[in-house]
Amino acid sequence: MRLLLVAGARPNFVKLASLCRALDAAGGFDRRIVHTGQHYSDALSDVFFTELSIPRPDVNLGVGSGTGAWQTAEIMRRFEVPLLDVRPDLVVVVGDVNSTLACALTAVKSGFPVAHVEAGLRSFDLRMPEETNRRVTDAVSEILFVSEKAGVANLAREGIDPGRVHLVGNVMIDTLLEHRERARARDVCARFGVRRREVVVATLHRPGNVEDRARLSALFTGLRRVSERVPVLLPAHPRTAAALASLGLAGTGSLRIIEPLGYLDFLGLISDAMAVITDSGGIQEETTVLGVPCLTARDNTERPITVEQGTNTLVGCDADRIVREVDRILGGERPAGRVPALWDGRAADRIVGVLEAREG
Ligand code: UD1
Repeated sequence: MRLLLVAGARPNFVKLASLCRALDAAGGFDRRIVHTGQHYSDALSDVFFTELSIPRPDVNLGVGSGTGAWQTAEIMRRFEVPLLDVRPDLVVVVGDVNSTLACALTAVKSGFPVAHVEAGLRSFDLRMPEETNRRVTDAVSEILFVSEKAGVANLAREGIDPGRVHLVGNVMIDTLLEHRERARARDVCARFGVRRREVVVATLHRPGNVEDRARLSALFTGLRRVSERVPVLLPAHPRTAAALASLGLAGTGSLRIIEPLGYLDFLGLISDAMAVITDSGGIQEETTVLGVPCLTARDNTERPITVEQGTNTLVGCDADRIVREVDRILGGERPAGRVPALWDGRAADRIVGVLEAREG
């Protein structure tokens, strides 16, 4: 079976790692990898391939940065070339980034079926570019691999044939479980001069937070107040670093703005954190598995299981709320949380099983 696997941005690479491992272990797949080049910096791309031993992409489309519409259109235009060259039995896209949508659309327009890994998630908030990416990708995909049960219900509600939907678990968690011990052994806390369980790790990158002056200022105020209680490390996405600088918001001794971290360093750091404050999707899931409290700086989540079963709390951009939640954690009130069903390190193997059954 000839597969064309697509990845473009940081969270995609983490999912690609477990998919490649499972496909190669199973054998019988001719898999090629296309990197769209949506993320291209060492820190946002290369470090993931190296640390996670992801096979080198067969093709890099080198698309680079641009507006959402330009980037999506340009990936579509460029992806058609390797697609028509390889003529795969199946195009596999992961996650919800612009590369996911662009390659799924190109594939169906050229007559190739698509499998979507991480299908069915919905924030019900179309102001997020990812929500459009999710809905459209799912609408055109022939096989939908779902990570949590809410995704199955969402797809049923949208009229998608349940025979195409497979609840397989979470491939990003496969990668986390495989690398967790290695990551902790790096003792990243010591490198930053903080003590284990006495640091809060923060990440912000969503345009909805970072490009809105009022929201970014409120969130930064929240982080500064948290840092009066416990040291805060903020590995800053390029957009966040630029936005903070443009508002004249700088770090302090206890609120440190640092460069983006590689996969292992970041995983090591959040494993040892007292709490994480983030607007990322994937980090809500990672903290749930690690049992680390997560305060999500958003008004909604497409990953409701992390709130229902995990360690996640939605706090919006309310500085008082953030400080209150941190105080509760400092006071010993940590959410118990449990690991959702099928987030057991075997999701990619289940995906391979579905593909093999389909082939046979
Ligand atoms: C993308 C995804 C988002 C995901 C995030 C993870 C979409 C719509 N968004 O957002 O879902 O959570 O990746 O990080 O696909 N830049 C660099 N180096 C790079 C790439 C980008 O410096 O390698 C800078 C550029 O200034 C660029 C900005 O970051 O304009 C944003 O890059 P973009 O491709 O739009 O994606 P993200 O915002 O990172």
